Amino acid sequence: MAENRKSPSGQGEKNNRRDFLNILLSGGFVAWFTSLLFPVFKYLEPPEIEEVKVTSVKIGAVEEMEKDSGKIIKFGNKPVIVVRNPTGEFVAFSAVCTHLDCIVQYKKEYGQIYCACHNGRFDLSGRNVSGPPPFPLKKYGVTIKEKEVIVFEEAS
Ligand code: FES
Repeated sequence: MAENRKSPSGQGEKNNRRDFLNILLSGGFVAWFTSLLFPVFKYLEPPEIEEVKVTSVKIGAVEEMEKDSGKIIKFGNKPVIVVRNPTGEFVAFSAVCTHLDCIVQYKKEYGQIYCACHNGRFDLSGRNVSGPPPFPLKKYGVTIKEKEVIVFEEAS
């Protein structure tokens, strides 16, 4: 009997079985380990959140905003500056300065939109008129419906 096990053909068959079992156990281990890691990675992966596309925002009644004043509103996740000029007309622009992305404000004493970061200035048509800003501000549309001021994104 002992001679049979040591025979070259018996040894080869034993090795084949051992190799087969090794492959089977390795595959089982990989499958088991993957089944442990999969829920962990699924848990860590942030959920997909659809961004809501905002096309217009109501900012309040016309009388709520004084002439010669400005305010920053949220247009989706973007800041927009709405200015009511001294004659009572509304204009709106992106409130992000075109120089280094600071938030601009309306300066009554200059009658302009002002960026405090580097003294940049824009006129009430959004043009860069002074300081380092290289481009005009992005323009938004403003309309009044039933005494309600509505800011909307203009088609580009
Ligand atoms: S960031 Fe506005 S002037 Fe520099």
